[in-house]
Amino acid sequence: MKLNFNLLLVLPFFLACTANQNDEKKLSSAKVSEQKILIDTTAYNLTINGKKTKIFELTNQNGVKLLITNYGARVVSIIVPDKNDRPTDVSLGYDSVKTYQKKDEPYFGAIIGRFGNRINEGKFTLDGKNYQLQLNDGKNTLHGGKDGFFGKVWDAKLVNRNTLQLSYFSKDGEAGYPGNVNTTVVYTLTDDNSIKIDYTATTDKTTVLNLTNHTYFNLNGEGDHSILDHELSIAANKYTPVNETLIPTGKIESVKGTPFDFTTAKAIGKDIEADNEQLKYGKGYDHNFVLDKNDGKTPIATVKSIKTGIKMEIFTTEPGLQFYSGNFLTGTTKDGKGGKSYSFRSAFCLETQHFPDSPNQPAFPTTVLKPGQTYTTSTTYKFLVDKN
Ligand code: GLA
Repeated sequence: MKLNFNLLLVLPFFLACTANQNDEKKLSSAKVSEQKILIDTTAYNLTINGKKTKIFELTNQNGVKLLITNYGARVVSIIVPDKNDRPTDVSLGYDSVKTYQKKDEPYFGAIIGRFGNRINEGKFTLDGKNYQLQLNDGKNTLHGGKDGFFGKVWDAKLVNRNTLQLSYFSKDGEAGYPGNVNTTVVYTLTDDNSIKIDYTATTDKTTVLNLTNHTYFNLNGEGDHSILDHELSIAANKYTPVNETLIPTGKIESVKGTPFDFTTAKAIGKDIEADNEQLKYGKGYDHNFVLDKNDGKTPIATVKSIKTGIKMEIFTTEPGLQFYSGNFLTGTTKDGKGGKSYSFRSAFCLETQHFPDSPNQPAFPTTVLKPGQTYTTSTTYKFLVDKN
């Protein structure tokens, strides 16, 4: 087999170049960044149901790289500089589309649709009609069902070196949801090292929709064995507690005095083993936070790795954020990038969203989309580095 290795040489991370001592120090550390990350781009070329899959590379002026495949419209790699300017891939993933298809962790990096997170018993009623979705999480539906958007081949258009547009047409009745739905997701990698994800969708029948991105992050670098040392803050004074099958009880409760209080930054591991029923249900954090603000301009969460100095800020127009601490990762296979195994809590997800089970929870913000309306939402993951 001919391997077409695309050598991603990540040297040009931006460094100001004046002649004082401090800058000389920075320059010498820049040499460390002469490091190659090997990607076999051909491993992403496949034909599934007559549609071709590929990998796309977005870059910015700082040498940051974002790799995306149209299989599931998913983020494969996010390569950012660490505090020593070393290129670091902070997103878990696999080395080929075939491995993604094996579905050990089918959601790595993917766009989730039609409905992020769980719907109780896969049932809801809309305009007096009862709908039954595919069940794929015990008696519930998770992340759109087994036929969700994460397993679809999207139509891709590389707009320019910073921007990729992906579209998917989901037929009326697919996975049990009503309406022909046209979805477009645009990924933009900006020169301030942000990944902006813009979602739009329309329907020809009243339906429900809740799209998100399911990247698994480890800011120490993917393959590192724990995220418990990461410092996290979430601008949410409230969260939605769940029952033992992780369906919201319908209550909106204060985080004050609970392990769910991330209003001030703390290590993810600080309270994760606390004697708390909610943490037992989730095997750790797997909960929806009710965001104080969702204006798209105020950071709603910040995460920092002490090891690498890599910091991520999130901005969104969504009302909720699912914080999942990688509790279902087992590390039993070596399918991860470069043969790595991804162990228990070696990644975290921060999925911007409407609240889980919204179609059955009248008090939650609505997820109903009607013909003539356009679903529009936007989330940004911004990467910074703390050099101290
Ligand atoms: C979400 C869910 C978790 C889990 C992961 C995928 O974050 O809330 O319970 O299903 O996706 O493994």
